[in-house]
Order: sequence, then C-alpha cells, then structure tokens
Amino acid sequence: MRVEQLQLWAGERQLVLCRDDAAGLRAAIVVDDTTLGPGLGGVRLKAYPSEAAAVVECRRLAAAMTLKNAIAEVPFGGAKSVLLDSGAIPDRAALMRRFGAFVAGLGGVYVPGVDMGTTVDDLALIAEAGAAVSCADEDPSPWTALGVFAALRAAVAHVTGSDELDGVRVLVQGAGHVGAALARRLAEHGACVLVADVDAARAAALADELGGAAIAPEAVLDTACDVLAPCAVARVVDAAAVERLRCRVVAGAANDMLAEPRCAELLAARGIAYVPEFVANAGGVIQIHALREGWDEPRLRARLLAIGERVRELLADAEREHVTPLAAAHALAERRLAAARAEVAAA
Ligand code: NAI
Repeated sequence: MRVEQLQLWAGERQLVLCRDDAAGLRAAIVVDDTTLGPGLGGVRLKAYPSEAAAVVECRRLAAAMTLKNAIAEVPFGGAKSVLLDSGAIPDRAALMRRFGAFVAGLGGVYVPGVDMGTTVDDLALIAEAGAAVSCADEDPSPWTALGVFAALRAAVAHVTGSDELDGVRVLVQGAGHVGAALARRLAEHGACVLVADVDAARAAALADELGGAAIAPEAVLDTACDVLAPCAVARVVDAAAVERLRCRVVAGAANDMLAEPRCAELLAARGIAYVPEFVANAGGVIQIHALREGWDEPRLRARLLAIGERVRELLADAEREHVTPLAAAHALAERRLAAARAEVAAA
C-alpha cells in the first residue's frame, strides 16, 4: 500500500504514530471522534503486512468505535490503537509502559482498553505510565458475549418469529474470550453449537465440552447453519463469502466484519439478516461505563440484554424502510452524534 492511498487527514481528529526503537515499539493511535467524550477503544497487538495496513485498520476500527459508543449511549467517543507485532518483543512490559507514555502524552483524549492480542495485565502496564485506561482490572469479554447473545437471539426471532434457541444451529468462528463464552451460553439455551478455530485443539475442547462439533476453519463459509457468529478476525464477509454462506443470520462480535459496506446489501439481497457488530458487541464498553459509574450487576445485565431490544428495533426499521441494517445503524449513530453536537453548539 502506498502512502498516497492512506488519504492523510482523512477524517479523524488525531492520527498519532508512536515509535521507540529501543523498546521495539511501532504503534498508531487514531482518535476518530470526541463529540460524546474521550475516545474509548482497544489496543490491538498484531502482525501487519505493512505499517500503512496497520494505520488503515486502526482507522476503520476507531470509526466503528464512534458508532458503537454512540449507539450504546455511553459517554465516550471513538478511538483505537494498534501495536505492530514484529515477531520478537524484547521486553513486553517495557513496550507497554512506553506505549502508555505516548497515550498519557495525549492528555486523556484516548482511553485504551483490551483488544485482540492484549490482556488486562498489558493495560495495567500502560496505566503505570500515567495513562487513564479501561480494563486494567477486569476483562470485559464475558459481558461482550452476553450482549452478543442478546443480539443474536433477537436476530433469530426476527427471521423465525421466535427467540427460542432450542435446536438452532449456530456456528461460532473463534473460540477465544468472547466466542467461548457465547458458545457456552448458546449451549445452555439448547442451541446446537459448531465451533471453528485456527487453534484446532481449542475448538475441539470447546465442542467436546458443549456436546457440539468442531469444524475446520476453512469450512466456516460453506457449512450449513442457522446463524454464523464471527468472533475472531476482521473482514470475514466479503462479496465472494456472501455467495457461499449457508445461514439465515450473521451476528457476532468480530469487529470490522464486512470487507466493504456493499456486503450489507449483498447479504440483504440473499435474505440473510446481518446484525452490525458495533451494535452487537457493545457489551464491553457498557461494562466499562458501568464500572466507572458503580452500577450493580442487575443494572449492568439489564443494559446488556437491552442490546437485544435495540437489534429487534433496528432490523424491523431496516425492513420497513427498505434499507440495510448497516445503513439503519449508521443513521441511528449519526442522529445521536448530531443531537450531541447541537447541544454543545447551543450551550
Ligand atoms: P481472542 O483473541 O480471545 O479470540 C480470538 C479467537 O479466534 C482465538 O481463539 C483465535 O485462535 C481464533 N482465530 C483467529 N483467527 C481465526 C480464524 N481465521 N478462524 C477461526 N478462528 C480464528 O479475541 P476476543 O477477545 O474473543 O475477540 C474476538 C473478536 O471480538 C475480535 O474481533 C474483537 O475485536 C471483537 N471484540 C471483542 C471484545 C471483547 O470484549 N473481548 C469487545 C468487542 C469486540
């Protein structure tokens, strides 16, 4: 990817590149929008084909965080960061502290959290450098999974007329923090769970535990099921994948699920109900907000289960207005952001 293709000054408020050769640090931080508050978004540690590819992914994920936080009605804007994994990290603690110093230097406009490749311990190290972080004490994944469960169930009800999950075949792609918790909850509700993971042993262990079946990661798109729940990598659904899918619902946690926005139209044309992931996977940010506000668990659970109600309304609105669920979700987020901007302008 060439630098020109990066479209510098594309739209976000801040794009910060961080580098420290002694610590082996190469990172990008994107603060996409701060209308609703400081930008909240995870720290992703991953190997990228190029530095430009890392920045592009960071931007896409930060923009999705703006939408997610607006729709979830939490007082945060959208942001994200990526740490480029070069293979051999000399001293992980030093790397995280150094990154934390960059975050602290932004003066609180970015609030980092856990994402793929990072843990609560990493966030605690980032905090040691003076950065205000989320997730330093508790992994939000189980709460994310509860919200995804509510979203998935609402989508099933939309297509079948019943939110009964007994016997519903759900293929969970990714048996990690969110996917495993989601699969367990689905199994508890009688769903027939299929699990795929690039870590075959992990998939097999979870499938055994739940009385389900493990399937090969490369078979995900061609396996017949009622629901595909992507809970692993980004951009699982591209135009070619839409043709291959043998499901009625796509609802999962994986951020940046669609390779391009027109995939939402292609899914709709095939009669597949797609739940935008930034609506379904908001459980983690809601839990972060709940911790800060000191909510008790029943209050948190109620807010997470309300994700299901939001999805039900969103799918119904989209159908009525002949737009995709993606377009309906964008419109909802934009309405909330516009209302907040108008409030600021009037103050
Ligand atoms: P994780 O790293 O714990 O689990 C990911 C799992 O996917 C791993 O078991 C990995 O082996 C597997 N995997 C990787 N590539 C795969 C592939 N091509 N096919 C099948 N399996 C593959 O990650 P986590 O925390 O469970 O997150 C999953 C997704 O949900 C990510 O996209 C993340 O951004 C998103 N998400 C997570 C939240 C959270 O609270 N953890 C919040 C919101 C979104």
